[in-house]
Amino acid sequence: MNMGKDIIVEAIAREMHTGVLAVDKNGKALYANPFFLKAFPVAGGVEGKPISEVIGNATLLKAVSAAFAPPVTPPCDDIEISETGRVFKARLVALGEAGQAVLVFLQDITEEKRVETIKKDFVANVSHELRTPLASIKGYSETLLDGAVEEKATLKEFLRIIDRHATRMARLIDDLLVLSKLESHQLSMHPAPLDIRELIHTTVKGFGKQAKDKGITISAEVPDSLSKVIGDRDRLEQVVVNLLDNAIKYTQVGGLVSISAHKANNTVRVDVSDTGLGIPEEDIPRIFERFYRVDKARSRELGGTGLGLAIVKHIIQAHGGKMNVKSAPGKGSTFSFSLAIQGAKP
Ligand SMILES: Nc1ncnc2c1ncn2[C@@H]1O[C@H](COP(=O)(O)OP(=O)(O)OP(=O)(O)O)[C@@H](O)[C@H]1O
Ligand SMILES: [Mg+2]
Repeated sequence: MNMGKDIIVEAIAREMHTGVLAVDKNGKALYANPFFLKAFPVAGGVEGKPISEVIGNATLLKAVSAAFAPPVTPPCDDIEISETGRVFKARLVALGEAGQAVLVFLQDITEEKRVETIKKDFVANVSHELRTPLASIKGYSETLLDGAVEEKATLKEFLRIIDRHATRMARLIDDLLVLSKLESHQLSMHPAPLDIRELIHTTVKGFGKQAKDKGITISAEVPDSLSKVIGDRDRLEQVVVNLLDNAIKYTQVGGLVSISAHKANNTVRVDVSDTGLGIPEEDIPRIFERFYRVDKARSRELGGTGLGLAIVKHIIQAHGGKMNVKSAPGKGSTFSFSLAIQGAKP
């Protein structure tokens, strides 16, 4: 079959993910492809309409009008415009000689911009989180060098503070490395049959002192007969550690923290509950983001950087699961996840 060039060109214009608008030298639209019309909807077709009725963006309209004004040289630089929450890059190209028409190409760069913002925010966050402990280390070591080193009690106290801040920086860097590996799928998982009951009891034991120091009762409830799950022990231990650490950290003196596991269909469901501060509803969707903290000052005071739950989410996702959060401010929170039972069909 011989296919006409027109059909091919028309199909390309129809299907391409770049907006195209052709404008004649009288400032009238000649043609707009569907992608362009999605960005700038015009009822009843564009042909013959003045561009002011077609281009609903002042910056772009000005650029297109200027492209016909003598000397006729459409700008070669791309123009960035924002319209209804999306960001577009527009390129103007002269068509024919003596400025007979101008073609406008419109590319949707919203996603690129979003990633760019995330990267910028990330660098700003990391720098800020590292700068704070570093400033303390510098301050205390300078004071020691200025003479405080002679006083034995001060020396020991300052060294302890320096050590604490250095530990915090090291932890932050470790967390960032784990997170970056998880996000780029470079951290290999070693799924194997796993006794979640043992993992829970061992981890809870490890938190005994932290809970006792804060006057918090911590309990674990796991049936003896619980089936084994499939998972990477080290990674899942990190999940349980991070969730218990939060539960204790964000619960007032005298509160309760409990962890339980039970069978639910072909999975084992683990719940970590506390009677603590709770999380406002509007913050719940954001707490798994890197560096997000409901109360930045309080969390930082408690040694948190806001990476714990981001790590938890990635590990659970890598196990094919999903995190679930139920929380009410002033009442407490429950963080849950499910793991596939060994041998069970998904
Ligand atoms: N059990 C909880 N109760 C109340 N708020 C919580 C609880 N768990 C998490 N949050 C809130 O979610 C935020 C993010 O938690 P995440 O574990 O990611 O960071 P963090 O605890 O601040 O720091 P990190 O875990 O890196 O030490 C916390 O700052 C806190 O505001
Ligand atoms: Mg945490």
